[in-house]
Amino acid sequence: MINVKASHRPIIDYRHIRPSDLEVLEKIHDELFPIRYESEFFHSVVNGRGIVSWGAVDRSQPESQNDELIGFVTARIVTAKESEIEDLIRFESSQSDETLVYILTLGVVESYRNVGIASSLISEVIKYASSITTSRAVYLHVISYNNPAIHLYKRMSFQCVRKLYSFYFINGQHYDAYLFIYYVNGGRSRCSPMLELVALLLSHAKSGFKSVAGMLWRKEDKKVSRWPRNRESGVLPTIQSKTPTK
Ligand SMILES: CC(C)(COP(=O)(O)OP(=O)(O)OC[C@H]1O[C@@H](n2cnc3c(N)ncnc32)[C@H](O)[C@@H]1OP(=O)(O)O)[C@@H](O)C(=O)NCCC(=O)NCCS
Repeated sequence: MINVKASHRPIIDYRHIRPSDLEVLEKIHDELFPIRYESEFFHSVVNGRGIVSWGAVDRSQPESQNDELIGFVTARIVTAKESEIEDLIRFESSQSDETLVYILTLGVVESYRNVGIASSLISEVIKYASSITTSRAVYLHVISYNNPAIHLYKRMSFQCVRKLYSFYFINGQHYDAYLFIYYVNGGRSRCSPMLELVALLLSHAKSGFKSVAGMLWRKEDKKVSRWPRNRESGVLPTIQSKTPTK
């Protein structure tokens, strides 16, 4: 994998991910995420089977490496009605086919961070979602302690609309997640901004109460991976022993 030198001036280009990216794509996912994605996921990405994706490459690298991925974003279209955030979308009565774009994975190799690559990749997803007339929002989950990613989504005007307690189960531990949303094409929440804030606070309070109640009942740990809400994509990652980052 490319490891850029400090003095190096990268020339970043963006393109769709293709079959020749398979090996590097798997390698970067393996290095950046605490879970192992199944091979089926990567094949779906590179072949565009139900997943849209963009990659970043550094054209200033020697020819053998100037088309090698140094960043990626993968996403899929879900119907708004079947999504877990149906309640956050205000439906037009005339349209029953409204869709959302769900970001599955996003990553940039360490030596290329903080130059705006992830921001550009997310912009590609937003542009894509905006170009689909039925699309109403882009949304994603992020593990609650991933401050660089949370900062990035907030800076890009994503709204944090929900806290999901114990959403992820990694290496025997539960982790909370935040759900971030970016509305497109006039998509909007069902409630006013003030009501949204109240709903968010209530959801925090309710989930907090559930956690306490759960502790009191000493419920047995569910030995289930709550990793990427890829139940939507049918992608079932297996857990590996690493520090979670998402
Ligand atoms: C989170 C992650 C994707 C961010 O990638 P990135 O390419 O470094 O993100 P960006 O460069 O777009 O933005 C990060 C910073 O660079 C700055 N930046 C953006 N554009 C810039 C530019 N053109 N020039 C200089 N700096 C820039 C931003 O201001 C931002 O800094 P700030 O957040 O302090 O304001 C990356 O840290 C990563 O891959 N982490 C591991 C995997 C992961 O956590 N993925 C997210 C799962 S939800």
